[in-house]
Amino acid sequence: MRKSALFIFSILLLINCTQQKVEVGVITDKAMVVSAREEASKIGVAILQKGGNAFDAMMATELALAVSFPYAGNIGGGGFMVYRKNTGEIGALDYREKAPLAATKDMYLDSIGNVIEGKSTLGSMAVGVPGTVAGVFAAHQKFGKLSVEEIIQPVIDLAKKGVIVTQKQEDRLKKHTPAFRKANKETILLDNNWKKGDTIKYNALAETLSRIQKNGRDEFYKGETAKKLALFIQDNGGIITEEDLAKYEAKWRDPITFTYDDLKIISMAPPSSGGICLAQIMKAIEPYDLHSFGHNSTKAIQVITEAERRAYADRSHFLGDPDFVKIPRNTLISKEYNTERMKSFSFEKATSSSELSHGTVDFNESTETTHYSIVDQYGNAVSVTTTINAAFGSKLYSSELGFFLNNEMDDFSSKPGVPNMFGLVGAEANKIEPEKRMLSSMTPTIVEKEGKLFMVVGTPGGSTIITSVLQTILNVHEYDMGMQAAVNQPRFHHQWLPDDIKMEPKGFSEKVKTNLQNLGYALDETNSPVIGKVDAILVLPNGKLEGGADHRGDDTAVGF
Ligand code: GLY
Repeated sequence: MRKSALFIFSILLLINCTQQKVEVGVITDKAMVVSAREEASKIGVAILQKGGNAFDAMMATELALAVSFPYAGNIGGGGFMVYRKNTGEIGALDYREKAPLAATKDMYLDSIGNVIEGKSTLGSMAVGVPGTVAGVFAAHQKFGKLSVEEIIQPVIDLAKKGVIVTQKQEDRLKKHTPAFRKANKETILLDNNWKKGDTIKYNALAETLSRIQKNGRDEFYKGETAKKLALFIQDNGGIITEEDLAKYEAKWRDPITFTYDDLKIISMAPPSSGGICLAQIMKAIEPYDLHSFGHNSTKAIQVITEAERRAYADRSHFLGDPDFVKIPRNTLISKEYNTERMKSFSFEKATSSSELSHGTVDFNESTETTHYSIVDQYGNAVSVTTTINAAFGSKLYSSELGFFLNNEMDDFSSKPGVPNMFGLVGAEANKIEPEKRMLSSMTPTIVEKEGKLFMVVGTPGGSTIITSVLQTILNVHEYDMGMQAAVNQPRFHHQWLPDDIKMEPKGFSEKVKTNLQNLGYALDETNSPVIGKVDAILVLPNGKLEGGADHRGDDTAVGF
């Protein structure tokens, strides 16, 4: 807890420049897009340069990621958007996938009640009703300036021209090819031994996008694309129907807002757990002097870990789709509740997760994903996290339509008490019900300081999303780092169960690790080579923008 010293930050910028480290990100005068691929950031910026606003750029960037970053970018998945307009107006859009009408609570269990391995993660049964096309059209309809035709054309051009394979993409394709073969009856476009430098042309996706450009969002939900999509999923043994697609609607939600020192944080509401969990952790750590403890010091890691442990225990119990479950939202994010939760914490010894359950709340009064941040030349900001859940989603790919389908159904709790692919243990609040949205960790966030736009931030990473967003904000606010430096820092993560601190390898000193182990913390550096890929924008004291594009991926900041 401290007031940031921004002059120190400016000096650090200078020092960093002279050291020639990539510690300072791209700096622009007034507008920026930071996303997982340069092609998508460039298309978003080109839309801004044509006079479009952040919401136009959202549609362009999201669809360009579907072309250039099929690993997580999508039209076969869903997402969340948090915005702050130049007037200070804030809001949030939920275009999360839904369970199909024919979904049932036990659909992933065998006859004796055990979870059938792979059924909620691979192939047609894992697919939730996609929301992305509805989402970008809802945002555009409410706030967009340019025509849909103008916005989508460069994306179609990119799909036809093709996208060059990077080394990271080559590695990812190689890793997931066996799963592509398991999930699909025929060889798919991405199963072609693609190498760095090759160009992949996405002609089928270009055709689908051309129909959407011509016929609008209903093309995906009620048109030729909807018919082909429902038929394709059913042909592969799935249960999504034309009716499921026709009934899908994106929903405007009230974002979660709270203060931390002199910051106002605006983040995603349920069905994402992101905003509530982030608020719980930040409210729990606010009374501690993290700045004086030092960045990634034993004491700072202890406090943050214990706050995370308690927030994730609550996440499992209380959070789900707000249209189906009652969430004690105000209590969970209150200072009083989180101070009470931290009373069992002592610097002398790690709390054991087995001794810690969810808190008591009075009900009287939510890994692979991608994030992009946008600030436009008018001062509007948009923070978007979008996903098909796992890498390449369910791996089920429609060759006719040109895209992967999500495996978001795995974000429901298939069976209370049994962990999902992120190791998150779910409860009744997140059980499967027809048309329900599965609980998410996505945390698109905007930060205000002194009533003005300060930061736009978010990341992929499944359950580690919330803690990566947290640490990025703290790196700037508590430790006076610039945006790129804040993104670069090694990260750690605790989520109640499993009861260990995941750490990026080689990121933490031996002394700190030994201290933590002596206090009873189990450390895991093996399962988390990368925690999050944060793409963020910081408004500098002189009003310019600094991008933080994560070196852990091919992420790129572009602007003017
Ligand atoms: N599928 C990851 C999330 O929604 O959190």
